[in-house]
Amino acid sequence: MRNAETEIGEIVNVSGNVITVQLSDTIKSNMPVVDGTVYRIGQIGSFVKVPLGYANLYGIVTQIGAAAIPDNIKETIEQDYDKLSNRQWLNMVLVGEQIGKKFDRGVSQSPTTGDKVHFVTISDLDIIYGGYNEDNSITVGNVSVSTSLNAKIDMDKLISRHCAILGSTGSGKSNAVGVILNAIANKNFKSSRILVVDPHGEYSNVLGENSNVYKVKPDCESERKLYIPFWALPFNELMSIFSGNLSDQNRDYIRTKVLEAKLKTVDQLSLDIEKELVDSDTPIPFSIKQLWFELDDFERRTFNERGNYDSLTELRVEGNADKLISNEYEPAGIGSCRPFLNNQAKAILSFLDNMRIRLKDSTYNFLFEPGDYTPDLCGNVKSDLSNLLFEWIGSDKPITILDLSGIPSEIMISVAGTLLKIIYDALFWGQDTKIGGKEQPLLVVLEEAHNYLKSGEKSISSRTVQTIAKEGRKYGVGLMLVTQRPSELDETVLSQCGTIIALRMNNSRDRGYISSAIQDELQTMIDLLPSIRTGEGIISGEGVKIPSRIQFYKLPKSSKGSDPKASEKWVDKKDATIDDYNKLLSLWRNKKFKEDN
Ligand SMILES: Nc1ncnc2c1ncn2[C@@H]1O[C@H](COP(=O)(O)OP(=O)(O)O)[C@@H](O)[C@H]1O
Ligand SMILES: [Mg+2]
Repeated sequence: MRNAETEIGEIVNVSGNVITVQLSDTIKSNMPVVDGTVYRIGQIGSFVKVPLGYANLYGIVTQIGAAAIPDNIKETIEQDYDKLSNRQWLNMVLVGEQIGKKFDRGVSQSPTTGDKVHFVTISDLDIIYGGYNEDNSITVGNVSVSTSLNAKIDMDKLISRHCAILGSTGSGKSNAVGVILNAIANKNFKSSRILVVDPHGEYSNVLGENSNVYKVKPDCESERKLYIPFWALPFNELMSIFSGNLSDQNRDYIRTKVLEAKLKTVDQLSLDIEKELVDSDTPIPFSIKQLWFELDDFERRTFNERGNYDSLTELRVEGNADKLISNEYEPAGIGSCRPFLNNQAKAILSFLDNMRIRLKDSTYNFLFEPGDYTPDLCGNVKSDLSNLLFEWIGSDKPITILDLSGIPSEIMISVAGTLLKIIYDALFWGQDTKIGGKEQPLLVVLEEAHNYLKSGEKSISSRTVQTIAKEGRKYGVGLMLVTQRPSELDETVLSQCGTIIALRMNNSRDRGYISSAIQDELQTMIDLLPSIRTGEGIISGEGVKIPSRIQFYKLPKSSKGSDPKASEKWVDKKDATIDDYNKLLSLWRNKKFKEDN
């Protein structure tokens, strides 16, 4: 291929990183054909080449047209309009350099005025996009400027340096996540470890055989039950599950009781823990029913003699901790008559009542009746937290999906935060073991990440995600944040993401946030974001050799749309009777989804 065929103009201005090119007026068309391939000149985001003897410099087109005319030339145009008016300008920023067959990011020299500029051909693009190591790169789609080229990502950098996938609803984020995770899983590593926190239950469909699914309400045999034992929650998170306010004093009172219960378990199970190190946050099983029962009993006691706490009145109803039934004593007398109330009581009966209702509520079973992780009244459990971790991050499948779709929304953030904290703490304390993150890195995918990370919030989830973003690298924990609202993400967390994948983004406020996380020279590419296609995105940062506009593959199965289609569901007659509504009401009142049989 002769050089003259690809030449498009020459450099007229170099100002810092921005280079202005004046296109030749001899370019015959904006769509030249070279060796049978049609090229388009001057697409924003496309590459141009500046040959400098032994090296080729490559730049990305950032601006085209009148706006690209440098100020000093603008004056000339005004004076001599006819001469220059039919010329075209474009601006580019340099991104890399090729010496021999090797392309590297960054340039070691800069061009100067008069240097010729060429459009890049397929063989140039091969060099730019080639050179990935097959072992650690994944192919996720095609390069938009030339669909015959595969778009590759350096998997190691993607995982270890964190990444963010940003785009409006429907821009193709979930599809992109699916493509990336499947590409990693299909490399058949023997111990890859990916954990997807999936608030809407959309990933089981797309990740299929590559994943194990844990779900509050499994839909089929292959899905397993998701348990998050309440005793693994830090004390404040546990209290936040129960509605109702507690004074600081009463909170401390309950905290002490929880600690006592945990210490009792340590004794009972002869756990190998230094007791001085145990606090109310330490994940040690205890019976929350027994705790409730004891707290409740203390409030209800009445006495035969004033001030004599041994003179309990006779029980009217014998309570039952397991069934959450209160002890009932003789009611207190009126005035100064016996029986006497317990004047040490804390006046927390209404809180305890709320607590009892939550403990009985079947939507909270994943928390309070977590299968083998449920402590008996003495705190014994059949399975400990190690088992849970083994299931979540030690499984035989490369991907584990924690499907949170059945979790009541008001406690979702608290639960998700706890879950992340359990995993991060485990890998933190296990950092020097063979299952620690340094030996077996973990990628945590957070769909709807803005929920966990509301900027300025101090919830357990935002604290944990911030910690992972800042320190996870040291312990082999990588984050993949997926969100349609980058503006709601904590900025420091976004700036910790080494690789940014920006899909279509309509909201200008959100684009502003992306642009602050992306290298300055590429700002004009951000301006393209409202208009790119579904599944198309701009990827920049450490995971790629060069910032690129790429089109992700489309997965054969799309992510599970949670929206029922009215036009389908309304077709057949439902034949519902008042009986169905009676059943519904009974389920509602019993806080259940299914009738017991
Ligand atoms: N790369 C792609 N090519 C073609 N269609 C796509 C692509 N990615 C997503 N889609 C389609 O666009 C729709 C929305 O995709 P989805 O991944 O659910 O978006 P998001 O998660 O951003 O809301 C889906 O119907 C999906 O099939
Ligand atoms: Mg989605």
